[in-house]
Formats: sequence, structure tokens, C-alpha cells
Amino acid sequence: MGDDEIVVAVDGSIPSLAAARWAAVEAGQRGLPLRLVHACVRAPTPYPRTRDEQVAVFHALSDHGRTWLREAQGLVERTCPGLDVRQDLRVGQAVAVVLAAARRAVLVVTGARGLGGFDGLAVGSVASGLAHHAPCPVVIVRDDRFPVADEPVVVGVDGSAAGAAALAFAVGEAVLHGVDLEVVHTWSPVAFPDMWAVQPLDADLAALAAREEGLLRRLVEPHRAAHPGLTVRTVVVRDRPVRALLDRAAGARLLVVGGRGRHAHPGVGLGSTSASLTHVSPGPLAVVRAAPVPDNENPIGREHEGDGLQRTEES
Ligand SMILES: Nc1ncnc2c1ncn2[C@@H]1O[C@H](COP(=O)(O)OP(=O)(O)OP(=O)(O)O)[C@@H](O)[C@H]1O
Ligand SMILES: [Mg+2]
Repeated sequence: MGDDEIVVAVDGSIPSLAAARWAAVEAGQRGLPLRLVHACVRAPTPYPRTRDEQVAVFHALSDHGRTWLREAQGLVERTCPGLDVRQDLRVGQAVAVVLAAARRAVLVVTGARGLGGFDGLAVGSVASGLAHHAPCPVVIVRDDRFPVADEPVVVGVDGSAAGAAALAFAVGEAVLHGVDLEVVHTWSPVAFPDMWAVQPLDADLAALAAREEGLLRRLVEPHRAAHPGLTVRTVVVRDRPVRALLDRAAGARLLVVGGRGRHAHPGVGLGSTSASLTHVSPGPLAVVRAAPVPDNENPIGREHEGDGLQRTEES
């Protein structure tokens, strides 16, 4: 298994083919191999009852799997001729299998829905499980809508380590695809980092907004310096993060969020913003998990230490 490859979860469904196409374009642009992984799930006992029935069911399932992998391979080769494509049929539960296959992958790509579920379900258990548990970025592809030229990458940042990782990933995507980057940060006068309190009625909201804008500028600055050709727009809005990101996601080629925000809890895979967006994002959604970053290297985290309320402007 190579170190730098993109893994796609394939189950024969239309969204998983859309995921394979999205991943093919990405692998082509990055010059990376693409691994198509299908998990062949053993039939649950007590069905089928006899050993012969079990063998027959397993053969049927694995035949389906091979067919779906071949179909996905044909599609990605048509999408991106010359791509290095590998097929990987494995036995086991889909989330565990794809995670194992992607242990050293740089990106996992999955359809939002698969062959199961029910009408109206926005994100299936495999897609959701991958977004919750993959150590590398996961892109959830909803449908086969291909990006129109110039659609920006939109990223939400909140001052968390995962937000910083999301920003770095989004910068890479915008540079890779030669599009603009829109960096969105929301704030609220009633929701504070590390505490839950209501702002006094006479709070200087303009000063709070200016402080948030300054914090975002500082977070983005190193990326601007590293990529002078990249157009970066910063958007600071007093709003709920999901609503603000959805407002901008409609015209985006990719929406990027961190896996967890500033209210992360050990053992909880995704924060509420990223978890909600796996359900409602209109287009491809990247969920990026952070390598742990010490708080003293995180400008927004540092700014928010202490009471936070009294400091109205960054220096
Ligand atoms: N057996 C599998 N092997 C590899 N990838 C899979 C498998 N099953 C699902 N996937 C991936 O997960 C994506 C979402 O499918 P998922 O199974 O999560 O939703 P669903 O089938 O609609 O609902 P359910 O949670 O009931 O299975 C698929 O598009 C595919 O990319
Ligand atoms: Mg399924």
C-alpha cells in the first residue's frame, strides 16, 4: 500500500460513482494513485444457515463487489486517462475496511449515500462513520455536479486546531485548482469560547466584530504570504456557523470544515457544525481532522484565554 494515495469507498451506488469521479479529478491534479476500495460484508448469521449457503452468498456478494470496482475503474479511467488506479476488494464492515485501507492515505472520498438507507436520508452510516473516524481528510460527495470554473473553495474556521487544519487543506485545494479561497468565520455575542454567557446589552458589538476580523486576518496572513497569487476573501459574520457556511456553499466547488471545533469533547468524532454539514451541505464537503496543535501556537486560542470579554481589540 502506497503512502500517498487517495482512497475511494465504492459500493456500486450512484453517489459512490460520483465520489469516484470527484476523486479521479483530484488524483489527476495531485498526480497521485487512486485506490478503489469495496468492503464485502459477510452475511449476518444465523442467515444463511448452512455452510454451502454461506459460501454461495459470499461468492455472490464478492462478485457484485468486483463488478462495482470494475465499473468504478472504467469511470475514473474515462474521467482521467492515465491515472494509476488500484482495485481493492476486502472482507469486513465497510467503515473499518475503508479506514484500514486508508491508514496512510492522504484523502478518503465517499459518496454521501449508498445502496442502503431510505428515501430522505441525507448521509448514510458509512459516509458518516468515515467522516467521524478517518485520521485524514474525508470528502463526502453528494452528487455528480461538477464544479463550474472559478467556483471558490469555502472554508469555515473558528480558532480551533481542526479549523486551522481545515484552512491549510482549503488553501491547498484552492491553489491546486487555481480558484479563489473564501475564509468564513462567524461569531455571536451570546456564545463565547470556553464559556457560555450572555454579553451585556451595552456591549460594543462593533468592537467585538473588529476583534474577530483581526483574529481571522492573523490566521490567514501566513497563507497569503506563502501564496501571493491566491485570492483570499475573508468573511466575518455574526451568525450561526452552519447557516453562514451554507449561504456560501451553494456557489462553492468545495466546502471545508474542521472535524471538531472549540467545544471538542474527547471521544466525540465530529462537532455539531461539521456533523450538521454532512447532512445539509449542497455539494462536496471536506472534513479535516487536526494533528493536535498546542494551544500556544493557535492565535485565536491565545486571544480567547482568560476572560476574553474585556479585550475588545487585538493589538
Ligand atoms: N460496502 C462498502 N464498501 C465500500 N464503500 C462503501 C460501502 N458501503 C458504502 N460505502 C461508501 O459509503 C457511501 C455512503 O453509503 P452508506 O452506506 O453510508 O449509505 P446508505 O447505503 O445510503 O445507508 P446505510 O447507512 O443504511 O448503509 C457510498 O457512496 C460509498 O462511497
Ligand atoms: Mg450502505
